[in-house]
Amino acid sequence: MDKAFEFTPDIEVLPSHVPLPGMGYLPVNAFIIKADEPVLVDTGTGRDSDEFMKTLRMVVDPQELKWVWITHDDSDHTGSIQKILEAAPKARLAANALAVMRMNAAWPVPMDRVYWLNHGDGISAGDRKLTAIRPPLFDNPTTIGIYDDKSDVFFSADCFGAIIPTLAQDADDLKEDALAQGMLSWASGDCPWVHAIPPEVFARQLDTLRQLAPKSILSAHLPPASRMTAKFLDTLALVPASKPFIAPNQAVLDQMMGQTEN
Ligand SMILES: [Fe+2]
Ligand SMILES: [Fe+2]
Repeated sequence: MDKAFEFTPDIEVLPSHVPLPGMGYLPVNAFIIKADEPVLVDTGTGRDSDEFMKTLRMVVDPQELKWVWITHDDSDHTGSIQKILEAAPKARLAANALAVMRMNAAWPVPMDRVYWLNHGDGISAGDRKLTAIRPPLFDNPTTIGIYDDKSDVFFSADCFGAIIPTLAQDADDLKEDALAQGMLSWASGDCPWVHAIPPEVFARQLDTLRQLAPKSILSAHLPPASRMTAKFLDTLALVPASKPFIAPNQAVLDQMMGQTEN
């Protein structure tokens, strides 16, 4: 878990990262929207759950949280969900119905606190409307990002993630080529299905976001990015025809372990 930082006066980033030996880093972000009805977006990874709770408490009193929005039920987004629901008794759990049902197979989700959303549905957080938008790339069928109409930010879940060479608090601090390459690798590895989609068909999937044109993208797996939406969409358009990502195999692992021992 890294130190929380302010993206805007009303949005705080709760960042963490996973080191990928030989490749770089994968950021893992959760966010707090300091709306009239405060919203936590995702709940970090389970392995740094204690630190996550500590960091969260430095930004907001969990008792004040009104919403916990789970973009999808992958473990890097739901790490502290049970602790949060306990610490934040006034918060409702906003998520896709399938995400809730899948989580309910692992632990008893309090159904009276759940709020089910599909693409296009929304909630009011008092001073803003938060609309569920399915991002063009996703690794889990329950994925819903969030468009915040007050800050003109799109919380994009796994979409626009990147394996990056150095950690940063702003995507603009990364070298453009390295960022584009890291985004292509992540997109290919996280969403291998995209290689089965004709590029011109996938290009149409990007239209929703092109039209929405959010000022900023807050991905779970990228440093915050402002005024880069058009450029990012152009990068994603290249994914179907890009070189498919191949995960390291046992020979690579043996080599890495050997290096660690020496
Ligand atoms: Fe995911
Ligand atoms: Fe993720």
